[in-house]
Parts: sequence; structure tokens; C-alpha cells
Amino acid sequence: MVQEYSELDDKAPRADSRVKEDQAMPGPVSGSGRLDVSKPIRPFESDAADGKKKAGKAAKGVKSAKKGKKDKRAKKAGKSKSGRRRERALPALFQPMELRDQHIRNRIWMPPMDTYSALRHDGVPTNFHYQHYVSRALGGFGVVIGEATAVNPQGRISPCDVGLWNDEQTRAWQGIVRDVKAAGAVPIVQLNHSGRKGSSGCSSMGYINATVPVAEGGWQPVGPSPIAFGRMAVPVQLSRAQIASIVADFRSAAVRAVQAGFLAVELHAAHGYLLSQFLDPLINRRNDEYGGDLSGRMRLLIQVTDAVREVIPSGMPLLVRMSATDWATGGWGLDETIRTAKVLKLHGVDLIDVSTGGLVPGVKIPAAPNYQVPFSYQVRSQVLIPTTAVGLITKPRQADRIVRKGLADAVEIGRACLRDPYWPLRAAYKLGLSAQQAPYPEPYRRGAYGIAR
Ligand SMILES: Cc1cc2nc3c(=O)[nH]c(=O)nc-3n(C[C@H](O)[C@H](O)[C@H](O)COP(=O)(O)O)c2cc1C
Repeated sequence: MVQEYSELDDKAPRADSRVKEDQAMPGPVSGSGRLDVSKPIRPFESDAADGKKKAGKAAKGVKSAKKGKKDKRAKKAGKSKSGRRRERALPALFQPMELRDQHIRNRIWMPPMDTYSALRHDGVPTNFHYQHYVSRALGGFGVVIGEATAVNPQGRISPCDVGLWNDEQTRAWQGIVRDVKAAGAVPIVQLNHSGRKGSSGCSSMGYINATVPVAEGGWQPVGPSPIAFGRMAVPVQLSRAQIASIVADFRSAAVRAVQAGFLAVELHAAHGYLLSQFLDPLINRRNDEYGGDLSGRMRLLIQVTDAVREVIPSGMPLLVRMSATDWATGGWGLDETIRTAKVLKLHGVDLIDVSTGGLVPGVKIPAAPNYQVPFSYQVRSQVLIPTTAVGLITKPRQADRIVRKGLADAVEIGRACLRDPYWPLRAAYKLGLSAQQAPYPEPYRRGAYGIAR
């Protein structure tokens, strides 16, 4: 498969990026969806209690092997002995949560995933985007985060990216957003500027991980410093005036996001796009007020945060996606992520969407199930801010455990939802919810798992 989105290379860990697994952490998510720090728990111990219960049951002996098996099967599926599913307490994954004025029906989020499908190269989302997002909302996701959406034409990752800098794009988003909401999900826009990774190719054009020439619809990428990403073009260093203009573009795009009906805004400060390029000491070599120490390197992100917070309603959540480490020696790491997240919280950010990588090429990332979850836990417990965890979370029980143990307030199901837009409906069944409890659209209830044959 062609890899367009460059955070996803396979890699091996940097020792000092590993987070300690045995520290106390905030307790599990409370029913109200608020962060509960009153009951510290250890996040990475296995469900030993569950194991003990099972062992105890085994010791009591089984009365009749046949009856026992049947009862066990029914219990596992959350059914009564007559075969009907009982209503049961909602597992953590299906508990609603609140972020400012937004009520979110469950903890299963669709993360931003670029579809590179604005094939007219005008940044306007198409019918494909409509189907793509509305079907995940119908599939039961609590939140649908749209793909990286550029704040200006040069801020696109590729010519095939969507944007939010003109009226036509705003109108096109309106239709998508309206029906995502109608299907019960909270639509969130991810605002992005690609910086030095701009003008890269996409599968419909070629130039994967390379710069599309200007003659073919590409552009000159920009960045904090003239340091290229891999074999892409060397970016032009942004002047102060250009930086101010990009901050203004984030502000205008946020105004348009509100007009389009989005219910929250996420700033993309991860994966080596512009806002994260400024954060990373390996990429940002400036010696003005936008470079140097951490407070200089985070200046652009904070200015963008303030500009966006100013123009969105006070009840609207503002999220920031961060890479908690660049996985490179001497680069960006968890400690700086936590310090930056603390400042973001003071500037009105409501949740950190915790990812890693994508900043510098050629590093090794220990991609495996849950590999980014410890970073979410560290940000959540040390900053005391809600987080989402993402990265190879594919199984319902795995996802439920992450939320139940307080490692994240919600989980994001990325590639797994590309192959299964109804992932939450399947998860509801696996976790024993009744058809009424599961987030089925009303017309689909007749086809619910456990009811339809
Ligand atoms: C095709 C594709 C496109 C992506 N585009 C974006 C994007 O636009 N913005 C972003 O923040 N992350 C993007 N990502 C990263 C995902 O949001 C997610 O973090 C990553 O896929 C890991 O989660 P998963 O293992 O559940 O897929 C993309 C990933 C994929 C596979």
C-alpha cells in the first residue's frame, strides 16, 4: 500500500521516550465524563481481578457441562437464558462525555485521516467526503474528526487536500456537517498548515513523499527554517509577516468552521506539519522570538490557539493534536509535550489528541497495539486535561479497557474504521450492549447484531 500520510512509518523506540508504566494516574472516567483524579490506579496491570474471579468460579466446579456452556455463552453475549439481550450498565467505552457545551454519545472517535480526494485540486470536499464522513456517523462514532483541512492553499499537504479558506469550501462542508450531526455524531474540523511537508504528492498524482513541481500544480513549501523533510524540497524560511498572516488564516478558517456548523475545532500540531515543525528543536533553528527555547518554539502554536479561541463560541471545544515524541535523539519528547500542554490548557484548550511521530524522517517507531496509549496517560495524568489515545487500537475490549482504566477519555479508531465504518455497532455487540443501547440509526435497528439472522 502506498503510504501517503507520513507519520505511519515503522520504527523502533528511543529509550528515553518510553514512559514509565507504574506511576499513579488519574482514576477511571466517571459517569459524568469528567476527569476523576480521586482514585489513582495502575494503568498497565492486567485485569488480575477478572482473572481471579474466573479461577474462583472454576474451583467451584461446573454442575452440568452442557448447561454450564450454554449459560456461559449467553452470559458472554450479555443475554438472558431465553436468548434476549439484557439491558446492562454501559461499559466505559459507551458512556457519554461532555466537552464544554458538547455532549458526545460515546468514547469512540474517528480520527482525522486525509483522503486526498479533492480531485479538482480546489480544496472543496466532494460527494466522496460526504459519504465517507456521514457513513461513520451512521456507524455509531461519537465524534467524527475531519481530515487535515488547510487554512490556505499553501497549507495543504497535497493538491488533493481539502481546505477552508473560501465560501465554496464552507458551503460544501455545511452539507457534510449537517448530516454527520443528524446521524448523532459530533463533527470536528482539523485545521492544518503543512509547512515544509506541503506540496507533497498523492496517489492520484504520484510524487509520493516527494514535492509536486510547481508546473504540475505544486508550490514552494515554507517552514520555520530551511531544512527539508527527507527528499522533499527545501522550505523557504517564514518571515515574521508571513507567520502573522498564517495566524490570521487559522483565525479565518475557524470562523468558517463555525459557519459550516462544526461543533469543535482541532488544531493539527502533530506529525511534522507546520505547528509541530515550530515546536521541534531539530526542525526549528530560528534565532528570533519563534525559535530557541521551548517558550519561543511554542509561540506560534499559542498565538494560533488564542486567535482561534477568540473567534469560536465560548461553549465550543478547542482540541490540539500533538506528537508526544518525534522518536529522534535530541528531538521533541514527552517532557516538552507536557509543558506545552499545560500552557495550552491555560489558553483555553480542552483536550489533547495524543499521537506521536511524523516530524523527522528515518526514525524507528515501535508500532504495536496500544503503543501510543502511555503517552496519552502521561499527558492526562500530568496536565490533568482530557486526552484521546490513538494508534493500533482495533479491538472493542482493548478500546474499552483504555477508557475504563483512565488512560484516555476516548479512543480513536483510525484504519480499522476505514475497513469497517460500523465499528462502534460491532463493538457494542461484543461488549454486550442490547440493540436499544447500541448507537444504531433507528432505521437500522431491525438489522442489529443479535436480532437479525
Ligand atoms: C490514510 C491516513 C490518513 C491520515 N491523515 C491524517 C490527518 O489528516 N491528520 C492527522 O492528524 N492524522 C492523520 N492520520 C493519522 C491517523 O489519524 C491515526 O493517528 C493513525 O492512523 C493511527 O491510528 P490507527 O492505528 O487507528 O490507524 C492519517 C492516517 C492514515 C492511515
